[in-house]
Amino acid sequence: MLSAGEGAIKLAGELLRAGQPVAIPTETVYGLAANAFDPDAVKKVFEAKGRPQDNPLIVHVSDVCQVEQLVSCFPEKARILAEKFWPGPLTMIMPKSEKIPDAVTCGLDTVAIRFPSHETARAIIDSAGVPLAAPSANRSGSPSPTTAQHVLDDMDGRIALIIDDGSCDVGVESTVITLAGEIPVLLRPGAVTPKQLSEAIGEIEISPAVLSQLPEGERPASPGMKYKHYAPKAQVVIVEGDLDAFNSYASRNAAEGDYILGFENEKDSYPLPVVTYGTGDDPLSQSRRLFDALRELDDKGAVNVFARCPDAEGVGLAVLNRLLRAAAFKHIKL
Ligand code: TXA
Ligand code: MG
Repeated sequence: MLSAGEGAIKLAGELLRAGQPVAIPTETVYGLAANAFDPDAVKKVFEAKGRPQDNPLIVHVSDVCQVEQLVSCFPEKARILAEKFWPGPLTMIMPKSEKIPDAVTCGLDTVAIRFPSHETARAIIDSAGVPLAAPSANRSGSPSPTTAQHVLDDMDGRIALIIDDGSCDVGVESTVITLAGEIPVLLRPGAVTPKQLSEAIGEIEISPAVLSQLPEGERPASPGMKYKHYAPKAQVVIVEGDLDAFNSYASRNAAEGDYILGFENEKDSYPLPVVTYGTGDDPLSQSRRLFDALRELDDKGAVNVFARCPDAEGVGLAVLNRLLRAAAFKHIKL
């Protein structure tokens, strides 16, 4: 694990060119990067993560002009979104070009592309001299890593290098939207919100998988959505209601080893031990803290976790989406 700096970035570039995966910081979560044009390097990413073979990777670029070679068509709406939200936490799915190996897209005819705003991420892409295929740098099934220490906890002994550049600003993964069909569809909510997207390009659909569990056997538009993601070891249940109702529910149902996943501004009023994820009225503070809080609950050996429900407005939709998955969709409304 090396701190971000000139030497570390140069070494990362060398390892990436030599076909080795490297964990890199981004503004959303840490990614496990590999040369997107090298199928063997990409395979090593799947192996290190224990990632299912049918879950495609996002290709990261450090300049919009690199996109042309990756796609067979750069739709007008994608150009508008690129102009408005890149570099930043937005991933766009477009028809892929021949240059993208099947190992990256798992055989799909589309490719997911993101231009991160994080300075170190961009410097590493430049240093490698190729676009980088990078999923989140967690072991498959754990919460995405928002610090280099989280990456080390999951990947120690499995990869050659982690570049440490502190905690991630956003804390949840990028917004994913597909522009490969007639109407754009939001597949995964993130820091770029549905409102911002539709203000830029008009009507968008929101995939039903964002807030509800897919019926058994249904094929999701984004393969990643079918997996029980972001799963802590504890049994998490989202309890929606005002503070008094929440507290009395938690008191009635709690046993030894149970915790509350609550808000910083309420932490003195809960009846159980608490781990906080941001303040109740600030969704960005919640997104920044959520995955770290889930890992902390596991470190403490939490058995059951009663979670305060985030408000689903703006970035809050991304927070609720991740928390629902952590809770395997257990959501009680009081
Ligand atoms: O913020 C992020 O997006 C982070 C950082 C590292 O950039 N990356 C990330 O990657 O979250 P990952 O692999 O954990 O999530 C990528 C999601 C998955 O749900 C995957 O199924 C979906 O994007 N995806 C990738 N390519 C796709 C495609 N061609 N069509 C549909 N979904 C796709
Ligand atoms: Mg992931």
